[in-house]
Amino acid sequence: MQGPRPLPLAGNIFQFPRRNIAASLASLSDTYGKMIYMHIFGREFLILNSAEDAFELFDRRGSRYSDRPRSVMAGELVGKNHAVLFHPYGEDLKKHRRLLHTALESRRQAEYWELQYTVSYKLLAALLKTPDDFMAHLKRSAGAFTMRLAYGYDVSDGPGEDHFVTLAEELARLTAKATKPGRWLVDSFPIRASHPVSLYPPLQSRQSAVQHVPTWFPGAGFKIWALNARRITNEFAAAPYLYAKKAAASGARSFVSDTVGCMETELGRPLGTREDEFLKWTSASIYSGGTDTSVAINSSFILLMALYPDAQRRAQAELDSVCWSK
Ligand code: HEM
Repeated sequence: MQGPRPLPLAGNIFQFPRRNIAASLASLSDTYGKMIYMHIFGREFLILNSAEDAFELFDRRGSRYSDRPRSVMAGELVGKNHAVLFHPYGEDLKKHRRLLHTALESRRQAEYWELQYTVSYKLLAALLKTPDDFMAHLKRSAGAFTMRLAYGYDVSDGPGEDHFVTLAEELARLTAKATKPGRWLVDSFPIRASHPVSLYPPLQSRQSAVQHVPTWFPGAGFKIWALNARRITNEFAAAPYLYAKKAAASGARSFVSDTVGCMETELGRPLGTREDEFLKWTSASIYSGGTDTSVAINSSFILLMALYPDAQRRAQAELDSVCWSK
């Protein structure tokens, strides 16, 4: 395995691409092969540029490589470690996944068709009306689907008007900054690298040297930034969860209402604080996991259709032959 020659301490900070990251990392394969190693201030990266290697390591040997890299800023200071997509591997992550699987498994897809039709028709109408705003429409549509599925919440129609969607977009910006490679000293100089068994409640032993610096100390602006990001992260997980629990009382169905119902039946009592805390993060992962991914896929589709009009014409003809044939 090879990689660009690192500098002492700083490692490959100047070779790690800042823009167009995927394409730039892919192009490194011409020089270094399909599997590339880099490090930035001690943080290590293995870049896999072939589907076979990705399948081999993350699927076939998945049980060995299922943990996440430690992330002091995003995971521990901002608090994203509670979220499924950042959660260290272990019993809690398995429990989150079991709950999600029960609701999202393929056997249950038909239950979401009606919602998918409603959201798709709205998206098509918006695209016909103002096609230039296609990115805003795609974001709104993906957010509307996941918010409804997770929380039974209908996002309001006007752009920039929905509190939960605005909050989620702000959180996505903060998360991108919190996870930027080489951006935070706390990620470059962590002390302990072991993961806690459970994050409920969080264990205090996972601290980095820089993490201990008080907020008033010169250069400790990162802590104030992290505190603000943590507040938004918590609000993003808690506010729609509380909404869904209240709405469930008046019969509104959602992932939250279904799961709370099942858990309460199993436990024979209302959920306690710890169970509520746990479930609020499971629910939040539906929005985080389903929104940007859907926008990425759909906007790539629009780009490809615009770039290859011939393929678009053929696909349209094929659709017409199925949809309009008698
Ligand atoms: C084309 C669209 C999508 C792509 C490419 C995609 C991709 C992925 C990937 C790669 C992961 C694993 C992340 C990790 O473990 O680090 C993941 C997890 C997840 N996705 Fe998706 N996803 C898509 C759409 C959706 C949608 C529409 C939903 C919800 C309705 C969703 C919900 C989730 C959830 C809840 C997880 C975390 C569950 C777990 O870790 O087992 N995803 N997704």
